[in-house]
Amino acid sequence: MMKIYDLPSSYAKVHLPAKVALAVTTKPDGNYNLITLEWFMRTSIQPPMFAISIGESRYSHACLEDTRFFNLVFPSIEMKPLLSLCGSNSGRDMDKFSAGDVRHIAGKLHKLPILTDAVANFECEVVSQVRSGDHTIYIGQVYYSWLDPEKQMFFYQDKS
Ligand SMILES: Cc1cc2nc3c(=O)[nH]c(=O)nc-3n(C[C@H](O)[C@H](O)[C@H](O)COP(=O)(O)O)c2cc1C
Repeated sequence: MMKIYDLPSSYAKVHLPAKVALAVTTKPDGNYNLITLEWFMRTSIQPPMFAISIGESRYSHACLEDTRFFNLVFPSIEMKPLLSLCGSNSGRDMDKFSAGDVRHIAGKLHKLPILTDAVANFECEVVSQVRSGDHTIYIGQVYYSWLDPEKQMFFYQDKS
């Protein structure tokens, strides 16, 4: 029977399975940070754009306020440990890029790294942003799209 529950209970029931992504950003010292994201979407065909929603408390938020580029990475199944690492540790306390032993090549936009174990990488420049409660939605224009068609997409199924 349909009735009112609190939002966490209702949302927990409907949000999985979910696509998750990683966003690579540039730290003020020039190194790179990684964040695991569930809240992202395509927002324009021409020019191509993606939006990512980043909590104001995240180190990635400070990184994006400082340097206006991100790489949106669609992970392969073998990247599950990296998604856990990047979703449960802050770049303020840990260099996730080194700790995750991330395989990469140089990107073409602002030299952001391209994760070579991923299915796809989209190199974006932030063109606008919107406050959304305790998150900021950063809208990025895609300049380069990278794909490894042989890799299999990771889907977030449950907490295990
Ligand atoms: C599956 C999953 C999805 C997440 N989605 C988001 C998201 O969309 N936006 C966000 O701000 N944080 C999200 N988080 C939380 C961040 O990944 C987490 O707080 C991370 O440690 C922040 O890293 P940072 O401080 O280096 O930016 C998610 C975490 C997990 C495990």
